[in-house]
Amino acid sequence: MGSVISQRDFFLGSKVIYQIYIRSFCDSNADGTGDLRGITSKLDYLKDLGIDYVWITPFFISPQADNGYDVADYRNIDPLFGTMEDFEELSQEASKRGIGLMLDMVFNHTSTEHEWFKRALAGDPTYLAYYKFVDAGPDATAQNPGEPPTNWESKFGGNAWEYVPSLNKWYLHLFDKTQADLNWDNPAVRAELVDVLRFWRAKGVNAFRFDVVNLISKPAGWPSDNTDGRHFYSDGPNIHEYLQEMVREGDIDGLLTVGEMSSTSLDACIRYTNPDCHELGMAFNFHHLKVDYPNAQKWALAKPDIPALRELFRSWQEGMTAGGGWNSLFWSNHDQPRPNSRFGDTDRYWYESSTLLPTCTHLMRGTPYIYQGEELGQTISDFTSIDQYRDVESINYYRILQEQGLSAEEAFQIVHERSRDDGRTPMAWDDTPTAGFTAGTPWLGIPANHDRINARSEMTDPNSVRAYFQRLIALRKEMPLIQVGDVRFLDAPSDKVIAYERTLGDERLVVQCNFSADEQPALGETGGRVLIGNYAEHKDGVLQPFEAYATML
Ligand code: GLC
Repeated sequence: MGSVISQRDFFLGSKVIYQIYIRSFCDSNADGTGDLRGITSKLDYLKDLGIDYVWITPFFISPQADNGYDVADYRNIDPLFGTMEDFEELSQEASKRGIGLMLDMVFNHTSTEHEWFKRALAGDPTYLAYYKFVDAGPDATAQNPGEPPTNWESKFGGNAWEYVPSLNKWYLHLFDKTQADLNWDNPAVRAELVDVLRFWRAKGVNAFRFDVVNLISKPAGWPSDNTDGRHFYSDGPNIHEYLQEMVREGDIDGLLTVGEMSSTSLDACIRYTNPDCHELGMAFNFHHLKVDYPNAQKWALAKPDIPALRELFRSWQEGMTAGGGWNSLFWSNHDQPRPNSRFGDTDRYWYESSTLLPTCTHLMRGTPYIYQGEELGQTISDFTSIDQYRDVESINYYRILQEQGLSAEEAFQIVHERSRDDGRTPMAWDDTPTAGFTAGTPWLGIPANHDRINARSEMTDPNSVRAYFQRLIALRKEMPLIQVGDVRFLDAPSDKVIAYERTLGDERLVVQCNFSADEQPALGETGGRVLIGNYAEHKDGVLQPFEAYATML
């Protein structure tokens, strides 16, 4: 039984979104950091790739403690990235090319440099009520503030509360201590954030990503237990009500929107994205990117568990379809190490690994996202020393891992494979020393392999990773089967193979992906027409190392 196809399915299913991590994309003024004018200069490159929208990570005024995810003013542009005129020019030039802009709204927290937080610190009760402040005990001192309100851990390490001696209060920060969580239970806060949405809507923006938006509703009573606390505030008590209100008041229902959902559940994501609930267009979940976390520990190493990956894809693909929800399809973003290095073998099978992964997700049901450089097959960094890292989380964990007893070398090895900076190295435009990214000194080092893996060389090579991405994008545009067809996972002949089918009317597409460096048996079905594959020659009955093979049967 196929599910009913809605207008929403066609709208979202026909789009491909490209993520720009602005500080690493293209630098127009030689200060070593990417900027808005840099993006404008590369619009033809994006148009040629075939994408519909670019999601641009935050470029608002910010002290940059978390690279812009610490916003100090939601309505103005950080001079590091340009001016409002630059934004308007980008918006016009993008629109001429049929490319939409998706802005990144960081509404769970603000920077402690935000005017609201400064007023709170000055003791203004109106603004104290904008954040999650909790009184400390009567005997608390700066040296000895006592126990924080909960034992929740910050995502960046350490306890999630910071003590303010002048107020004798704690405030909550689920991320860095300069990122104070907003109090969404306060209607005035919700109204302020809706106003921010309206401001950008009035500038013509019609697509939004909402940063860690399923963390906005905290439970009453500040509970603790023997966990890191995330289950108390992920998909929290009033989350659906708050999202519905924001969507209604901000007038964004039915627009292209996506929520970043941290440690979420399938049921919650069905509600977030089923059009009848009037919340968001689609959701990012991260379960499939934790299959190489031993015992759910990010800061430890293991090989990816492919059967677990397959089961996650199956349950989310089939479950979201059955529940009327909509998935975002992705392997990569600015918080993840490059996936070809992680799930593939970039030494021996770089091309195959870099094309297997997108084949697996782009042909699924949902909306694919491409993270800058993924379409070139960029790999993780080649850093050899902690001094080369910039990310607050990586630097914190390098220290924490050593405090936990690891040697400096062991801690470095883990950071090297897990760091967010592994996905943040600048875009490789060409093979010159600074990769065509900047005429200055890049803010983060560029892997040496940009002499080989770069846009200039791949744009003229019909067999490049980029050319393969172009074909995948074009196929989605051409084929309603890919956009809206039903999806069902198939029993794979090997635990290293992920296979599924898409069906629409009489059409049937079968996709098989070998997540290993060894040959694996293919599904018994033969014949049909090859739609796309990453080997020039497919061998009957066999999947070659990291082979992806999609046939119309
Ligand atoms: C999201 C962003 C990440 C940021 C965090 C806090 O996970 O993608 O980069 O650090 O939210 O805003």
